[in-house]
Amino acid sequence: MLSSSFTTCMLISEENESVIEIETEKQGKYIVCFDPLDGSSNIDCLVSIGSIFGIYKKIEGKSSPTLQDALQPGNKMVAAGYALYGSATMMVLSIGGAVNGFTLDPAIGEFVLTDIDIKVPKRGNIISINEGYSYMWDEAIKEYVNSKKDPKNGKPYGARYVGSMVADVHRTLKYGGIFMYPATYASPKGKLRLLYECCPVAYILTHADGLASNGATPILDIVPESIHQRSPIFLGSRDDVEDVLLLIKKYRK
Ligand code: AHM
Ligand code: MG
Repeated sequence: MLSSSFTTCMLISEENESVIEIETEKQGKYIVCFDPLDGSSNIDCLVSIGSIFGIYKKIEGKSSPTLQDALQPGNKMVAAGYALYGSATMMVLSIGGAVNGFTLDPAIGEFVLTDIDIKVPKRGNIISINEGYSYMWDEAIKEYVNSKKDPKNGKPYGARYVGSMVADVHRTLKYGGIFMYPATYASPKGKLRLLYECCPVAYILTHADGLASNGATPILDIVPESIHQRSPIFLGSRDDVEDVLLLIKKYRK
């Protein structure tokens, strides 16, 4: 549908090794980066999964699109969002302003605006990370996670990890807290893909007053070098993300 919509000129999908160029006579001005179905390890056991997309505009002044158009930083996106197939189906979308959620009403076959101008709480009380890899984390992540599980004062954070990024991100957006997929010794660049996994969710959280960083740079400021490149990600409530970034900074010194 995207390729026959007369609106796109290039598509980047997690499922395709190279970019998909739209035939010239059907070309429009938009580049769409997407993960058609994220969280595939959760399909067979019926746990929530989702679709993710980020939309860029072709760089002006060029006739045909090139790889350069696909390698723009996330802050150049004109829209981004995801669909979550959970206890209901919801599309979360921002076109540069507010983040809105549209719930599918199966009775009328329409997405109805149900969640208006979503804002992530300034601080949450949930931590979301695959703790099975803790022996491969660096010291900053170990110290941060321990500080939330065994706080010197106050209550410990709850731990939640679906293993479907869209579900973990959507819970973080609604309830607050932090979602992390850091670098590990085994995956020094993390697992998640910058263009169609990290950037769209960073765009949503950032427009909802949250933060998204790779540990050093805001996700949306990273200039991609290749279409399938990976990035570590720390995303969620502003105060929670700032806490982990401070620790990362402390250990870098
Ligand atoms: P996928 O694109 O192969 O589905 O992998 C991405 C998924 C994310 O949805 C999720 O956050 C992550 O992989 C979970 O990975 P892990 O099992 O290593 O914690
Ligand atoms: Mg994926």
